[in-house]
Amino acid sequence: MRSAYGLQIPQEDVELTHVGPGTPCGELMRRFWRPICLLEDLTDLPKRVRILGEDLVAYRDGEGRPGLLFFRCSHRGVSLEFGRIEPEGIRCCYHGWLYDVEGNCLDMPLEPADSTQKDRVKQPGYPVHEFGGLLFAYMGPPEQIPEFPMYDVLVHEDGKLGAWIGPRVGGASDCNWLQSQENIMDILHVYWLHMRHGKPQFPSDVYAEMPTQLDYEEIELGMRAVMAYPLPDGREFEMTWEMLMPLAFVLWTDEPDLNGPQSARPRCVYYCIPIDDTHQWQACIYWMPEGEDEIADAERIKLSALAREDVDYEYTQRNPDDKEAQEGQGPIAIHALENLGTSDQGVVIFRKILKEQIQAVREGRDPIGIIRDPELARCVPTTAGMAIRDPRTNQVA
Ligand code: FES
Ligand SMILES: [Fe+2]
Repeated sequence: MRSAYGLQIPQEDVELTHVGPGTPCGELMRRFWRPICLLEDLTDLPKRVRILGEDLVAYRDGEGRPGLLFFRCSHRGVSLEFGRIEPEGIRCCYHGWLYDVEGNCLDMPLEPADSTQKDRVKQPGYPVHEFGGLLFAYMGPPEQIPEFPMYDVLVHEDGKLGAWIGPRVGGASDCNWLQSQENIMDILHVYWLHMRHGKPQFPSDVYAEMPTQLDYEEIELGMRAVMAYPLPDGREFEMTWEMLMPLAFVLWTDEPDLNGPQSARPRCVYYCIPIDDTHQWQACIYWMPEGEDEIADAERIKLSALAREDVDYEYTQRNPDDKEAQEGQGPIAIHALENLGTSDQGVVIFRKILKEQIQAVREGRDPIGIIRDPELARCVPTTAGMAIRDPRTNQVA
């Protein structure tokens, strides 16, 4: 046998995994608008957040303006999470310096009344944008701020948008962002991890079969997987999952309904939130059509997440989910230890595109997915969806 004695553990792929300030991938990440927190988190108290290894404080001032500032007060470094929200901004607890959402210092109550020191102090921060129940921030070079992209599945005349932030159902949080994100383009793990290893985790038997078709394609906004599963009546259930590189994705995840609509578009966009190199969360914005029960979707997600909280270690050993699979790869998976096979094609393409995007930023170009046309940004076309097809005609049945 090959002895594990003396096994050398190589270093992780720093270029693709590290997201802190000044790292190659961190620079890429900072070119995109990213979710920071829920709008409902912006109460009469500040909200401390950690994103891409940076500690920040989000708040909404008394006039309703949202802001995102570096967490340490420019005076002597107290965290602004202990600050007081006032009509004009946030006031540090220690000596009362007051900052507006632009980081301007408006007041230094302990300095002489004629002091002009406050005019020279700027608290660092980032521009923010409110959309669909989430606060987004742009953390990149100020002169390169892109348009805020609204993806077509969220653009509707009727209904409303809602959002959640946290681990995906059964999903990981204590691992590098890439493990979680490339999992979406690892379609065949569904067959094994979710349906064959322990108790089946999806209610439909459809996913207990290998797809009859699985193609990974590079597309304008990143990549997608197109897959087809056989249905008992001879038709096929085709799904397209789209990765809006590097951090957002659109999926069809509902069970096939043989008597329901024969084709449909998803209703949500998911966003990976790299907290730091070894932690990540997900955010989701979902559209609820007029008259639909908003609670149903949010509650379903919350209840499934809670159901997972109760499981013990033995249960997870017998019935591992995405959380065990992704966190089981370690805090940062070590690519040099892997032996990729033909079934890993999606992961290979994901990493290739990621490398190309990192290189584009290095060379001063926009990575794919950066939108500078305001018209396009108002409704960015995506392709994810499902269709029930007759394989003889290849038509939607
Ligand atoms: S440390 Fe914030 S006002 Fe002094
Ligand atoms: Fe999964």
